[in-house]
Amino acid sequence: MDLASLFRPGIRGIRPYTPGKPIEEVQRELGLVSVVKLASNENPEGPLPAVVEAVARAARDLNRYPDAACFALTRRLAAHLGVDPRGLILGNGSNEVIDMLIRALVSPGETVVFSERSFIVYALTTQAHFECGRPVPLGADDRHDLPAMAAAIDGTTKLVIVCAPNNPTGTYNTADEFRAFLAAVPGHVVVAVDEAYYEYVVAPDYPQTLGLLAAHPNLVVLRTFSKIHSLAGLRVGYGVGHPDLVGELHKTREPFNVNALSQAAALACLDHWDQVAGRRDRSREQLEWLARELAALGFVNVPSQTNFILTRTPAGRDAASLVEELLRKGVIVRPMGGPWGMDARALRISVGLPAENRRCIEALKEILV
Ligand SMILES: Cc1ncc(COP(=O)(O)O)c(C=O)c1O
Repeated sequence: MDLASLFRPGIRGIRPYTPGKPIEEVQRELGLVSVVKLASNENPEGPLPAVVEAVARAARDLNRYPDAACFALTRRLAAHLGVDPRGLILGNGSNEVIDMLIRALVSPGETVVFSERSFIVYALTTQAHFECGRPVPLGADDRHDLPAMAAAIDGTTKLVIVCAPNNPTGTYNTADEFRAFLAAVPGHVVVAVDEAYYEYVVAPDYPQTLGLLAAHPNLVVLRTFSKIHSLAGLRVGYGVGHPDLVGELHKTREPFNVNALSQAAALACLDHWDQVAGRRDRSREQLEWLARELAALGFVNVPSQTNFILTRTPAGRDAASLVEELLRKGVIVRPMGGPWGMDARALRISVGLPAENRRCIEALKEILV
């Protein structure tokens, strides 16, 4: 019996997400002693020692269910952000909050607008949920085309997702552009702005969206502890919005969606928020170094506000073969063709530790010259 045929057509049509290869697998496959992974936009610095200690302490109570309401974390995080705790929802990564929004808002026949060449989870999750995604082409400058996204909203649209800064391009839309976009979106359409890389941003004209919540009750801001806080392996993300909207979203949340270790770790991150600026600055310095070195090798970089850089190979080289050659030299980066749908020369490199970045550039030099 064809068990796949039991599933909804939308599920059968999904091309599964291929995550970056784990380091151990690449080592084993290629017989390499050391491998650097610059492929999943993680923080190479790792969690703070105080966070690891908090997790170890919390592990003693693993026989107990976690606090289903994330009481302490919600209050601390809301105070930190200066928002009403009733307007905050925590998720098993911000991924889960995206999933909750789509499942809670969209009935069969209704749609979700987002940009092409954006975080691939939007396409996958909407495909799984009644094929409700309506991707809009990315602008020619590798930025979201917000006017085109506003124009794509029709009577079926329930949700628009803006990725800011965008993964995989690292680009953003300015505060003025975002305000004009919000003004063009009808109040009954929810706008989710995915700010997974918010803490890495240095551009002064980047929109400060929490300040827009009061005037736009249809706005939800999504952030995460996965990136600058180095908790990708524990999965804690959150959404901030109007208490009435977030209250409805809570109804769709599984009772214990954020586990006990994750809650303890996120609380410890809040105790050490003063470390964020240093982490951002070190990442930025390395990003700028990588950009300079890549440009010197003939790559064409897209300006980035994140901990990764989208770049295009020198003329005559395609990204897929270059990425394969890099892999054989023990450096994992991501080609952006295939399911990401970008051109054949596009690849994404996540910022690593200085020695990892140097190794990537040295390997590229060996390949290209
Ligand atoms: C734009 C964007 N949003 C969300 C996420 C996922 O974040 P989380 O780990 O909180 O689920 C990522 C991770 O790569 C991302 O790039």
